[in-house]
Amino acid sequence: MNIDNIKKQFPIFDNKVQNNDLVYLDSANSSQKPKVVVDRIYDFYTKEFSNVGRSVHYLAVAATNLYENTRVMVQKYINASDPNEIVFTKGATEAINLVANTFGQKFLQEGDEILLTELEHHSNYVPWHYLRRSKGIKIKFAEFNSDGEVTLESIEKNITPKTKMIAITHLSNVTGAILPIKEITKLAHSKNIPILVDGCQGAPHLKLDMQDIDCDFYAISCHKMYGPTGLGVLYAKKKWLDALPPYQGGGGMIREVKKEGITFGDLPNKYEAGTMATAQVIAFGESIKFLNKIGIENIEAHESQLTQYGEEVLRKNNSVKLIGSPKNKGSVLSFTLDGIHAHDIATILDEDGVAIRAGHHCCQILHDKLGLSATARASLGVYNTKDDIDKLNESLNKCKKIFDR
Ligand code: ALA
Repeated sequence: MNIDNIKKQFPIFDNKVQNNDLVYLDSANSSQKPKVVVDRIYDFYTKEFSNVGRSVHYLAVAATNLYENTRVMVQKYINASDPNEIVFTKGATEAINLVANTFGQKFLQEGDEILLTELEHHSNYVPWHYLRRSKGIKIKFAEFNSDGEVTLESIEKNITPKTKMIAITHLSNVTGAILPIKEITKLAHSKNIPILVDGCQGAPHLKLDMQDIDCDFYAISCHKMYGPTGLGVLYAKKKWLDALPPYQGGGGMIREVKKEGITFGDLPNKYEAGTMATAQVIAFGESIKFLNKIGIENIEAHESQLTQYGEEVLRKNNSVKLIGSPKNKGSVLSFTLDGIHAHDIATILDEDGVAIRAGHHCCQILHDKLGLSATARASLGVYNTKDDIDKLNESLNKCKKIFDR
């Protein structure tokens, strides 16, 4: 893999940030965009634009075909068995809200339990919390261990006869733990419990195979996958999309609308109300082509090597304390630096063009358990190199010196 060539495909790296070369270490938050994705949005709006699924004129039909082709590309990319199992949403957050809301309406009653983990980011907690209020359900949290991992055993011991859904992250955006989701799915199914996997961090970095994992729902955030913002994907087994009620009402999702009542459209229209994020969907097709061209296995290998290198470098730095040391780890390096507040670290690093995230990373429960209000986090993408890690370390040393003065 030639990272220099890959990096050249991202126009943002042609620019200086405060007169520095950009060292972008915030891809878990959102990835940068390759030119093909940006160009596709421009081309669509300037040469091919029309709304989809409604009019019969040339542009409308062509745009509809492009939109539906992307659905098939996503289906193939994650090896779902049917394109109708792919629902476009405005983000992974909306995908999880869709499931929590419709599943809650139809299947949950007071006293039922949803099992999450302490690793979840807010998008996979807050939507379930609403059901606590509206339905009187209980939320349980499988604990993470001192390495920042959630094990199969930790899930198993929290399952009760009242557990109605297990909703877990694929890859923690703080500790980097990759959960054994295939085994957890098997366990869940052996007890007749459906499982939702929050793939916000899994999908950009790991090879996905829905038929192999066998989960019931998988939520994807496209802007973390070198794609546009404002777009997510919900993968759901067809039996669930057939069984659950629609989420939002509006044009495009109906079959017949009468004063006496309404019937809903077939899949996937039933879940895609109103004018969808058409340009984003079509541009996301370019992200998938980009990922396929490099090969997700190659990306996984590159990022894993780089994560190991990052861990080695940061472990050697006595001022840094890494958060979590899971055996199976994705490309995030969260840390604290000798009592210096994470926001101060991020601000000083920023002066050198090193962009990291600081705060609770939308994981307040995780940080509460660690007794920390905030951590600093460097997260990697396909364009990062060892040089970026070295620059991070240099800037951290500079930051330490400033605070030691
Ligand atoms: N966008 C969030 C992150 O930075 C969740 O990990």
